[in-house]
Amino acid sequence: MNVHSVNNHEEALIWFNLRIDEYLQKEFDDDINESVKYFVQKYWKEIVDLPASSTGRYHHKTENLKPYGLLNHTLRVVYLTKELGIEEIGYPAGYDKWKNNRSIKMAIAAAFLHDFGKVEDFGAQHGKETVRMLTEVEGKHPLPPEVLSMCKHHMHNWSFIHCVEVWDRIVAYADYLASRPSIHLSEVTYLVKEGQQHVLGTSTNHK
Ligand SMILES: [Fe+2]
Ligand SMILES: [Fe+2]
Repeated sequence: MNVHSVNNHEEALIWFNLRIDEYLQKEFDDDINESVKYFVQKYWKEIVDLPASSTGRYHHKTENLKPYGLLNHTLRVVYLTKELGIEEIGYPAGYDKWKNNRSIKMAIAAAFLHDFGKVEDFGAQHGKETVRMLTEVEGKHPLPPEVLSMCKHHMHNWSFIHCVEVWDRIVAYADYLASRPSIHLSEVTYLVKEGQQHVLGTSTNHK
């Protein structure tokens, strides 16, 4: 990817769509890839300015940046969802076949979209709000019910929202881990730094 700096929200959208292609390759599950991009495009102007947390208490510092904080958080959740998903399906480390696994693809789609409800509500019910937003354009770009369930239940670890499906739990745990300030997985830190460099057009020193 040859993006050296991104100086405005429109360029950031291009950059974010490249990340979606990277995780949800077009050649597989076109429908999921296109649906995720459709909703990112639809709500971009609202989500791009949001921090991950309205209070700054529950998330990594880089996730509380305004703008792009929620997007940084989202990339951390996407990365951790992929890693937990690979553990779940039991592929050996470094084995690329996860890219053809539909469950991981659906979980990654949910990870990209799970917090869109924060456009309306930063409270404990924002997972339900996400589902409302993702289903209000009926018939257009429908997402699989599994993706909607993962979004709906992603607050499992915060709000004791009951979820039994393993893939719901994977996204919920990825979300929880991604928000822990003490977790500094090198790849996750890389994603956040990359977000700051590319999206903010600067190399900042947030720790
Ligand atoms: Fe959330
Ligand atoms: Fe989240």
